[in-house]
Amino acid sequence: MSLKRLAIHQLRNIESAELVPSPQVNLIYGKNGSGKTSILEAINILSLGRSFRSHRHKALIRQGQPGVTLFGRVSGEGTDLSIGVSRSLSGEAILKANGSPVGSVAELASYLPVQAINSDTFSLLEGSPKVRRQYIDWLVFHVEPQFFNTWKTAQKSLKQRNSLLRHDRIRPEQLTPWDRPLIEATEAIDTFRAGCIEQLKTVFNGLVHDFVAVDDLVLNYYRGWDRQQRYADVLAAGFDQDRKQGFTRQGAHRADLRITVGGLPAADVLSRGQQKCLVCALKIAQGYLFSQLTGRRCVYLVDDLPSELDGDHRAMLVEWLERMQTQVFITGVEKEALEADWLNKPETEVKVFHVEQGKVVPFEQGQPHQQVTE
Ligand SMILES: Nc1ncnc2c1ncn2[C@@H]1O[C@H](COP(=O)(O)OP(=O)(O)O)[C@@H](O)[C@H]1O
Ligand SMILES: [Mg+2]
Repeated sequence: MSLKRLAIHQLRNIESAELVPSPQVNLIYGKNGSGKTSILEAINILSLGRSFRSHRHKALIRQGQPGVTLFGRVSGEGTDLSIGVSRSLSGEAILKANGSPVGSVAELASYLPVQAINSDTFSLLEGSPKVRRQYIDWLVFHVEPQFFNTWKTAQKSLKQRNSLLRHDRIRPEQLTPWDRPLIEATEAIDTFRAGCIEQLKTVFNGLVHDFVAVDDLVLNYYRGWDRQQRYADVLAAGFDQDRKQGFTRQGAHRADLRITVGGLPAADVLSRGQQKCLVCALKIAQGYLFSQLTGRRCVYLVDDLPSELDGDHRAMLVEWLERMQTQVFITGVEKEALEADWLNKPETEVKVFHVEQGKVVPFEQGQPHQQVTE
């Protein structure tokens, strides 16, 4: 699956840009503030309906404009469709596929699976469990068709249950109408997640040493409640405490992927650089497994690669991206530094784009070298 065409209108400093990317490697270079990350952001919004940078839609819209509009043509693996996302200042979002409205962000997300590696993703280790649940659920969402609806049921029941818990004289049996669907959905979510993580561990263990040379690195899935207990029993036993606190303390909404080195959290043990490499390994493992399980390929967005990883690790990441034959978009300040990683891969179709003050131009061979400085 790759993005055959990308059109951006009124996103941040980009008034209008059209790209015809390579189905393989796309290198985007330009000075700081020129609009490189905004291009990756555009692709991320086409994939998920939202940015990886900010949840404030207004910030995305070019100053003084009423809205932002993005188009993408997605092709490959039996798919050929155009997707469009526009957002107005009022926050209204219009999602379209082949010109028809798309019912949900989940539907949109199924068309263009994207993996982003940027400075934010490095919070996967030290951030809250929510970040790691999102990481797990990306895969579960794409490989388990029932997952999204099940997850929605759990969210809805949980919300109702929590609001009842905050009533003064609530009795356990009054929760039953919400507990029943919550229990069923929670058990199902756990089964989906556990199944995916088991497979992810195998892939991850097979490649992690390419990225980080540490022993005793373990991925451990915590499902959100005691492994020995049935969720129904956990809810029943925890009723008094849940009522006191005014929310359901345990469940799939508290799940986590614990990443440890020698029994300690990886974020406490590994250096910054090692953490970045570990996150790359996690992201590559996920895209690799996604591909194995679905026969599809996701698009990788790698922001500011040269500044995030040292030469050897960059080479390793590039090696894996190449092996996976996915479409990648990589940004950096220096053209030469970006290109250097792909020089010994003559079979790969590499396209280079130059961004300057929100204008995107493909870099043609033979064009005079443009000095780019910070
Ligand atoms: N809503 C907006 N309207 C206009 N310009 C914006 C808006 N939001 C951000 N910018 C500007 O757009 C540019 C885009 O930056 P970015 O894509 O992060 O650049 P790069 O990744 O190349 O450093 C920045 O110069 C920023 O000041
Ligand atoms: Mg940037």
